Amino acid sequence: MALVTTSKSNGICTVKINRPDKLNAMNTDVAKEIIQVFTQLDTDPDVKVIILTGEGEKAFSAGADIEYMSKITADESVEYAKLGQLVTKTVEEVSKPTIAAVNGFALGGGCELAMSCDIRIASDTARLGQPEVTIGIPPGWGGTQRLMRIVGIAKAKELVYTGKMIKADEAKEIGLVNQVVPLASLIEETTKMAQAIAANSVSGVRMSKMAINRGRNADLETGLGVELLAWRNCFTDPDRESRMTAFVNKSKK
Ligand code: COA
Repeated sequence: MALVTTSKSNGICTVKINRPDKLNAMNTDVAKEIIQVFTQLDTDPDVKVIILTGEGEKAFSAGADIEYMSKITADESVEYAKLGQLVTKTVEEVSKPTIAAVNGFALGGGCELAMSCDIRIASDTARLGQPEVTIGIPPGWGGTQRLMRIVGIAKAKELVYTGKMIKADEAKEIGLVNQVVPLASLIEETTKMAQAIAANSVSGVRMSKMAINRGRNADLETGLGVELLAWRNCFTDPDRESRMTAFVNKSKK
């Protein structure tokens, strides 16, 4: 049985972490499968938008595998963190837009994985947090870096230092998730947003993601330079021409 499953429909691929008996905790096998799946999806011409979620109703992912970590050496821990950082980097850099459908606990690596997606929609049952300090370590799959970029340094420090879990509504209040919906309609609502994105120009969305991702850590001038390249790139796409012509001719669907 695959530890990460995929299902495709109408340009949308739903990727599911499938280890529900361990609350979708990511051991090395799960981590490697996530990397493999996202690497394949990056160039899959049938996929425009990716939804990432967890199997079951309890967890998106409860994070890195604590049982595994309890037995490894410092050197082995570096390899595990490098693998985890490659997971979050691969998800973050996939060229397609990504939405995390946070269906329950998103803790530690689970929260870090959700943060590497472009957009997060949480069920009202979701609980998010970086509880690593409660087990003696800092976040190691990008949490010390991405959380502050999303919610600001002070909130990030509060969450990381206390290790507390927050409810979906609070996560929305601080900007950690975009939207909160009832658990029963999580996939439906996430799919609706995915469909809205998939209806748009593939290159327009792709170039927007590239420019935002490249600009996020750059100075404004560099970011604006990247934006120009992204803009020009779309002017070479026949889809751009047909969309603009349709607007001008008032034949826009
Ligand atoms: N790594 C490995 N196994 C994990 C895990 C993790 N991060 N999180 C949960 N599990 C396992 C439990 O060991 C348990 O396995 P078992 O049934 O074989 O004993 C199973 O998943 C169910 O978890 P359990 O703790 O019994 O569920 P709960 O409802 O009582 O508690 C949580 C849910 C999320 C509060 C709790 O599992 C938890 O705190 N997990 C760790 C979260 C964490 O610190 N993540 C950061 C890691 S860096």
